[in-house]
Amino acid sequence: MKKLILNILKIFLVLLGVLILTAAFGYFYLKSKGLDFEGEYEEKGEEIKELSINGIRFLDRNRNQKLDVYEDARKSLEKRAENLLSQMTFEEKIHLLKGSGMKSALGQATGGVPGAVGTIVPTPRLGIPELYLSDGPAGLRISAIRKNETRTYYATAFPIGSLLASTWNTDLIHKVGKAMGNEALSYGIDVILGPGANIHRNPLCGRNFEYYSEDPILSGNISAAMINGIESNGVGSAPKHFVVNNQETARNYNNAIVSERALREIYLKGFEIIIKKSQPWSLMSSYNKVNGEYVPESRKLLTDILRTEWGFEGVVMTDWFGGEDATASINAGNDLLEPGTKNQWDALKKSAKEGDLPKENIDTSAKRILKLILGSKKMEGYVFDNNPKLKEHAKITRNSASEGMVLLKNENMLPFKKVKNIALIGSTSYNFISGGTGSGDVDEAYTVALDEALKNTGYELNKDALKAYEEHQAKNPYVKPRGTIEVLRAMMNPYSPKNFDYSTKLLKKVAKTSDIAIITIGRNSGEGFDRIEKDDFKMTDQEIQMIQNTCKEFHALNKKVLVVLNVGGVVETASWKNHPDAILLAWQGGQEGGNSVVDILDGKINPSGKLPMTFPINLSDHKSSENFPLDGEKMNILSMFFSKEKSEDELIKNKDYTLYEEGIYVGYRHFDKENLNVSFPFGYGLSYTAFEYSDLKTTESMDTLRVSVKVKNTGTVSGKEIIQAYASKPETEIDRPIRELKAFIKTTLLEPGETAEVDLKIPVSDLSYWDETINNWNLESGSYAIEVGASSRDIRLSQEIDLKNKSL
Ligand code: BGC
Repeated sequence: MKKLILNILKIFLVLLGVLILTAAFGYFYLKSKGLDFEGEYEEKGEEIKELSINGIRFLDRNRNQKLDVYEDARKSLEKRAENLLSQMTFEEKIHLLKGSGMKSALGQATGGVPGAVGTIVPTPRLGIPELYLSDGPAGLRISAIRKNETRTYYATAFPIGSLLASTWNTDLIHKVGKAMGNEALSYGIDVILGPGANIHRNPLCGRNFEYYSEDPILSGNISAAMINGIESNGVGSAPKHFVVNNQETARNYNNAIVSERALREIYLKGFEIIIKKSQPWSLMSSYNKVNGEYVPESRKLLTDILRTEWGFEGVVMTDWFGGEDATASINAGNDLLEPGTKNQWDALKKSAKEGDLPKENIDTSAKRILKLILGSKKMEGYVFDNNPKLKEHAKITRNSASEGMVLLKNENMLPFKKVKNIALIGSTSYNFISGGTGSGDVDEAYTVALDEALKNTGYELNKDALKAYEEHQAKNPYVKPRGTIEVLRAMMNPYSPKNFDYSTKLLKKVAKTSDIAIITIGRNSGEGFDRIEKDDFKMTDQEIQMIQNTCKEFHALNKKVLVVLNVGGVVETASWKNHPDAILLAWQGGQEGGNSVVDILDGKINPSGKLPMTFPINLSDHKSSENFPLDGEKMNILSMFFSKEKSEDELIKNKDYTLYEEGIYVGYRHFDKENLNVSFPFGYGLSYTAFEYSDLKTTESMDTLRVSVKVKNTGTVSGKEIIQAYASKPETEIDRPIRELKAFIKTTLLEPGETAEVDLKIPVSDLSYWDETINNWNLESGSYAIEVGASSRDIRLSQEIDLKNKSL
């Protein structure tokens, strides 16, 4: 017996030893390949002196006591980059083409910015500093808590992308971008990894919340405004994920098979607008393949289209660990590999030696990176203060969120009149979700939920409803995850407050003792997997019960019920929307979300948001649902690092490849073409006032259509209106959508009785379509209808314009 125990012990000790050795080996391997491989390139904090020669002050970066062209801020970036490049060794140039690994992201870098996910590496010999890259679309994602420090580094959680797009207000988005950029500048971040500009191809994409719209004109213009706002601070942006990254399932190797026409008109269009209207410092290529080619390795996409056709001048970086082949990526025009690994570095050095990576390609990419560095604030010797204007930004996020919330239904309920005591139903009412998970998340200081916001505004919370929630919360505590590990875990399992059953007895009591009910429905999703239909797109049985029973008890006493949707993506609404008296799509409104909702309920803000995507009746009404992964399979982290080429017959549909069979018929383009009923159409949203449209005039000159229209506030309160201009070609020889958004504008606040005359411009070339027979844009001649409306299904005025003699 003793011997047996001894033997078991021995085996156990051997196993333990093997385990410790494997872990140690694994750790050192990871460290040397992914965390700590920069060696002599690490910055050593050497001082760079400011000198003055002939009255010109400059930072003597290479310490040669002379003014080099690259040190001379009066010279153009082009000249400075050329000069710097000429001073670099071949090795130093190659070194620039990849980041320094995940050290900073994991909070391991001394002197870095914990939570920043990547770097552009320094060249200490020439005094070229290290730059930091950080997510993301809803605000700066850095770690708020740092080891051995008592102070915090919170960033503002701004509203999610879909909410921002629902404002249709490019001036406001510019302001939000400016505030985000200010936080980056303050915290020493040089490039924000955002905005997210992918198209909402299907409501289930797990990252739709980061993206703007199902329409490329809206998405492109909102993105450009955001980029211009961010970059007005002297920090860069990296719009992402270029291109056709519309699902999370198998995102690292999915092959999107898409027609050239859909590629051009839908998926590339928004990015084309971005490049032309904002020329961002950089751009992030996507993980997926397009028509069989990994995007980071596609010369057609990254060089021929992006640069030669559109004139992009900035840096293209990979998505994190994206691209299979480092050399092929640089050769295709993907200048920077992020976050960078030792293996990639070695591969580039080897290819350069063997001639597979031509010197000109190294120079081209290195020069683009150098231009970005030279244009950064760090090159001006800027010292960041770690003190962003958080208070001021809290106001900006509050106002922007209330401007993007969409009032979907309102039967004489809002704004509140004579409401004092409110029954808050549903756990999310007390735990607002500020934003989605993954890299689109922000480490913010607080999130204001509805309970707190209502109390702040002087409303009473119904005691019985509150008690029921508190008892539930005591048993199922809900806390937003914090810290690297917790946040990573939340990425795979988005946190969302758990609901509970409301008994009829409780609801009867609550209805008697309150004036109205507010039910909040919450949803959360994020990077790494797509949503599913059951209990996510659709309401759960418990939620349906909650809505139906609350409405029944409150309506029996002639009291009203509001449903607030605190969601990141489209949910089913058709089956239950007739029950409540009002529905407010609050989206995920950032850290001030609750306050923004109450500003609307209270009438302080007149809602003016409109849907940037369609709310369909059924998920299957979307043509893309025939070719979309519907099972919500979670991402396998290892697939980011190891890929296995499969043979033809091993390929799984919607995972290994996805057929974009719907072509250009995405969102309203499909619903209109098939004449399908929808729950709420693209461009829809209610206001507390009404607007009358008149005097539509469309004229053409210098290849541009000028559309002018008058909009009058005919109601009794002030409000803003979003005017949408669609183009339609009733008599057409080709297959084209019934109507397509071509321009939009939001008015300023119009007082009751006030009229605004707005002007919209549509370049004639925007009426063209991608003609696959000539592989180019083509303009049908003849007559077009310019339709101006309050939504895609509420066209108020239309005018024909003849473009008989026009060509591109
Ligand atoms: C995401 C990017 C993000 C990057 C860095 C990737 O997993 O797809 O959007 O910017 O991580 O966090």
